[in-house]
This record gives sequence, structure tokens and C-alpha cells, in this order.
Amino acid sequence: MLEKIKETAAFIRNIIGETPDYAIVLGSGLGKLQNEVEAIHTIEYPEIPNFPQTTVVGHGGKLIYGILEGKKVLMMSGRFHYYEGYSMETVTFPMRVFHLLGIKKMILSNASGGVNPAFHVGDIMMVKDHINMMPEHPLRGKNIDELGPRFVDMSEPYSKAMIATAERIAEREGIEVHKGVYLGLQGPTFETPAEYGMVRVLGGDAVGMSTVPEVIVARHMGMEVFCVSIITDLGGPEIAFAVSHEEVLQAANKAMPNVIKLVTNLVREHEG
Ligand code: HPA
Repeated sequence: MLEKIKETAAFIRNIIGETPDYAIVLGSGLGKLQNEVEAIHTIEYPEIPNFPQTTVVGHGGKLIYGILEGKKVLMMSGRFHYYEGYSMETVTFPMRVFHLLGIKKMILSNASGGVNPAFHVGDIMMVKDHINMMPEHPLRGKNIDELGPRFVDMSEPYSKAMIATAERIAEREGIEVHKGVYLGLQGPTFETPAEYGMVRVLGGDAVGMSTVPEVIVARHMGMEVFCVSIITDLGGPEIAFAVSHEEVLQAANKAMPNVIKLVTNLVREHEG
């Protein structure tokens, strides 16, 4: 496993030749951030040794290396979800590689279902904490001490400094943002009304099918993490609207300009 990560990192380092400031995982909500970056190198996943391959025909996935707001960023366009059938090791393999490339900061985005009654479709939530309810833990198994400790401190899963900077930016730019807890379930079904109710009872503000494994592995290696979530639908025991993938994408698209404004300013202004 470690050898594979090293081989993949060496391959990418050979191409980009320098250490990026940020890794950015483009989930639903940040896709168009690709257009903001001055791309220097684009590497398709099938070209990268040991890199997982996407299951979607025609969407091979790629890493984009370039400059965003004067900072060096490595963007992952096309992420891997547990519900697609990948192992947790595969889902989080890119984070391992990012760490070996020397990247210290990671920004992720996702779409989620809001269960906090104050939320509306299209709202933006900065993730301040998460609850891991995925059925498999990405750090289960023999620990690779070279990458991080056996028992991982999770007292600050999402960087308080990055959240504080993002809050200042949101206020200055007039972007309304929430802060909340993201609860990760495996999917691929959206939740039943009772399950949305459970998420709320357990302390979640939003529920989704990604991010949690990536963040755990990033924290295992000491990376600083920021995550922004777009509330694309609402759920609860008394709410029985149907949710579709199309609606999720539509809501994410609507919020995207503000999410992009938040993230580009954060990349420029966050020191650390
Ligand atoms: N549940 C889980 N994942 C999601 C949702 C949801 O309601 N919306 C977008 N991703």
C-alpha cells in the first residue's frame, strides 16, 4: 500500500515539479471552480499509476494542477464514493498521495440534505464537525506509522482558523453561510423521512454520502481541512418530498457562484 502511494506521488511530482499549497476536491458544488484555475498540467486518472478509476463512462476524472488566486492548487475532478463499491482504502487513496506530495491544506465540497429546520434549499453550510456513520472505517487495519498515528485526535476535524477566515469573507462579500455538523451515511439511497429524523436526533445538520472518509484520512496525516456543503434538499420525519439527483445538481449549480467566491477568497487569504 505505502509503496503504491509513493509510486503514484513520485509520478505526479515528476510532472508538476513543485509542492502545491492546496488540494481541492471538487464535489457537487465546486465543479466550475475548474474554470477559475490557470491550469498548468492536466493529468487524466487513467494515466496515473495505481490511481483509482471512475465508474462513470465518459467521465474519466482528472487532476488539474495550476494557479488559483496566486496559490498553487491540485484539483481532483472526479471523486470516489464508497457506495460505488470502492473500498475505503481506494476512496481515500488520493489523500494519501496528496500528503506525500507535501500538501498541507485540503478543501472539499459536497452536496447534502438539510435536516436543520432553519436551512433552505441552496443554502451553504461550512462543515464544523462530522459524525461518521459509514459502515467501514478508512483507518481499520494495520496502521502505517509513517503516515500517521494509530489513534487519531479528532478534536478539530475541520480547521477553526479556515472557518474563521471563511466567515469573515462571507460577511464581507454578503454571502449567507451556516455552520453545521455533517453526518455521513453510505447511500446510495437518499434517506427515508424517518432516517432524516434520525440524523437530526443524532446531532446532524445535514446528511451526505461522501467527505467523511477523506477527512478522517487527511486528519490521520495532519492535514488542515476545510469543507463546504450545499444544502440541495431538505428532509425530516414530516417532510416527504421526493429527492432526485437532478434536483440535487440544480440546487448545487444555483449556489455554486457563492461557493466559488467563498473558496477562491479563502485560498487567497488563509495564511498557514
Ligand atoms: N442525503 C444524502 N446525500 C445527499 C442528499 C441527501 O439528502 N442530498 C445530496 N446528497
